[in-house]
Amino acid sequence: MNERKIAYILLPAFLGIFLLGGAFTVAPKQADPGPDPITRKVDSVLALMTLEEKIGQMTLYTTDWGSTGPVIRPGYADDIRSGHCGALFNSHTAAFTRGLQRIAVEESRLKIPLLFGFDVVHGYKTMFPIPLGEAASWDMEACEKSAEVAAAEAASAGLNWTFAPMVDLTRDPRWGRVMEGAGEDPYLGSRIARAKVIGFQGTSFDKGDRVLACVKHFAGYGAPIGGRDYNTVDMSEREFREVYLPPYKAGVEAGAWTVMAAFNDLDGVPSTGNSWLMKDILRGEWNFPGFVVTDYTGINEMVSHGIVANQKEAGELAVLAGVDMDMQSAAYQDHLKQSVEEGKVPEARIDEAVRAILRTKFLLGLFDDPYKFCNEEREQQVLLSAENQAVARDVARKSIVLLRNEGVLPLAKEIKTLAVIGPLADDQNNLIGAWSGAGEGRHCVSLLSGIRNKLGKGVNIIYAKGCEIEGEDQSGFAAALAAAQKADAVVLAIGEHKDMSGEATSRATIRIPGQQEELARQLMATGKPVAVVLMNGRPLVMPWLAENAPALLECWWLGTQAGNAIADVLFGDYNPSGKLPISFPRLEGQIPIFYSHKNTGRPFDLNSKWTSKYVDIPNSPQFPFGYGLSYTSFRYGKPQVDKTVFRRGQDVTLTVTVENTGRRAGEEVVQFYLRDLVGSVTRPVQELKGFQKIMLKPGERREIQFTLTENDLAFYTRTMQWAAETGSFDLMVGGSSDDVQSVRVTMIE
Ligand code: GLC
Repeated sequence: MNERKIAYILLPAFLGIFLLGGAFTVAPKQADPGPDPITRKVDSVLALMTLEEKIGQMTLYTTDWGSTGPVIRPGYADDIRSGHCGALFNSHTAAFTRGLQRIAVEESRLKIPLLFGFDVVHGYKTMFPIPLGEAASWDMEACEKSAEVAAAEAASAGLNWTFAPMVDLTRDPRWGRVMEGAGEDPYLGSRIARAKVIGFQGTSFDKGDRVLACVKHFAGYGAPIGGRDYNTVDMSEREFREVYLPPYKAGVEAGAWTVMAAFNDLDGVPSTGNSWLMKDILRGEWNFPGFVVTDYTGINEMVSHGIVANQKEAGELAVLAGVDMDMQSAAYQDHLKQSVEEGKVPEARIDEAVRAILRTKFLLGLFDDPYKFCNEEREQQVLLSAENQAVARDVARKSIVLLRNEGVLPLAKEIKTLAVIGPLADDQNNLIGAWSGAGEGRHCVSLLSGIRNKLGKGVNIIYAKGCEIEGEDQSGFAAALAAAQKADAVVLAIGEHKDMSGEATSRATIRIPGQQEELARQLMATGKPVAVVLMNGRPLVMPWLAENAPALLECWWLGTQAGNAIADVLFGDYNPSGKLPISFPRLEGQIPIFYSHKNTGRPFDLNSKWTSKYVDIPNSPQFPFGYGLSYTSFRYGKPQVDKTVFRRGQDVTLTVTVENTGRRAGEEVVQFYLRDLVGSVTRPVQELKGFQKIMLKPGERREIQFTLTENDLAFYTRTMQWAAETGSFDLMVGGSSDDVQSVRVTMIE
């Protein structure tokens, strides 16, 4: 009988004994059996636990399989055995997790199964576009589907918890983790947060092919001063609630079972010890039912923040603020028992946290079958399946944004000679981007391979690297220029190294590194048609390229199927449909730059000196939020509304006709914006309130409708009440934030 069967029989039999009141004392008589059987089971287990074992359930450690933070503790197996650790992260594969689970359910006293977490952010083994890239698809089904596939792969590899989605809104591309989120807008970010949570977690935990979602980093992590990771976050409550909070709320409302506290302080209080966040908002306003985990050593870091004097006080502040699980600090393990014995932390608070964690394990079915996520046969079938590759290719294509096209794209498949140039042309490793889970570059289709797959043997493809991503060496230029001279067209792949974005990678300059842009200039000087393929994790500052590239595709880091997806777009098998989820600045000096800015008292006026502007560059971004071209063209009719004056509580329906005026079928993201012209506080000049991604055949016209509700008009008024105020509003609709038509409506009491 193999070890799995032994553990399987031992565990339920053991639990069966004490759950049914056999040899062990069942929960004390006075315990409320609770409204559901799981509550009874949780209370029965809790009643058996020592204070140390309870604190063990509140403790999460990384194994030495990977590191995503500054410290790794040795001896996690002993921690499991002694009941001092109830969850692990950075540990995966069915075999490795089964071995650790066996220690928990066979060698610990109470045999409570472990949770296994991992950063499955944009894929486990099959890699999808980085989240910022996927956000450019504006395709919620695609966003949900990629999370569903990632969850299925992760769940087949022993994992039952992902530390995703990261929903931190940001308007600062200097911040390296911009790659990990959905960009600058609360509405788009909220829609994506919802799609990701549903994709990862599904609607019930016990199926075994989904994982717990974890909305992170709560809260405001994407707004560090100076765009410098981990830096201070300070903003008005109004800005926080209206702009930064909505995506977290959307994730919790979608059912996210866990939330991760952010590293940053907010208005002077570190999130990890911030009861306003973790109790008042998360539980009080949103009725969050799950548990809160810190970020990596987040508790200990409150000593550096200077909000507590030592690790013990940090643990007390965190647990009393509503943080249930300590990731990697060991603050709870080392000090919480003493804090309880000193009366500084009521044991009732410990019990509350442990109940939430035990409930989670029951909901996942881990007490019934602790090895349900450790099925190696299933792992072999699911990982990198052909079906998953098809999803990856589809999501990747939809994430590509066409920024410029002076008649170069799509390229003809019948081309005779094509030069494929650049440091990222024949590269696989960078395609998985940062936060790449268990993804491996070797599984990725490079751009060169994707083009070869597309064109077959009939086309002469000449490859030249040209230069490295970084460094001043131009010695490869000659071969690249020679390749271009022989070719009918050039595809140039340039950008960032994948580790130039992600955690702890803030950059003060966000240019295209090294000699890549010079290589582009020289290639363009040959007069050959050059299509530039950008691969990057953040908006880049590229004023010359943005104005001069004959064709410019924003391809982010597209994951395992990158090369095939880009080739689909380059040769017209997929008409690019992406729209930017974040503004691209002209220069770093514009940052933060975002479309939903305020008008100010001296709005920019070309004809007046005394207005809000830069004297050296325009106010407008290089490429605006919501912008993206197509191989076809779309014409918008004048928007119509069913009423121009309406009473509070009435809806307004806006109708606009969109026509495909080109010769190719194509998708358009029809965007709906609002401006509140007068408010009790200043209001943004534009706010996204809806969008629809539609496919139109050549010549096809379609009526698109948006319904405006009173809640769409609401904001935090001068007295911080969430309410709509009467007055006039401009409703805007178009294919980019800077290309809209508007119609005015007025709300009266
Ligand atoms: C990291 C990240 C967080 C991640 C965690 C575990 O520091 O901030 O997003 O989930 O540690 O890897």
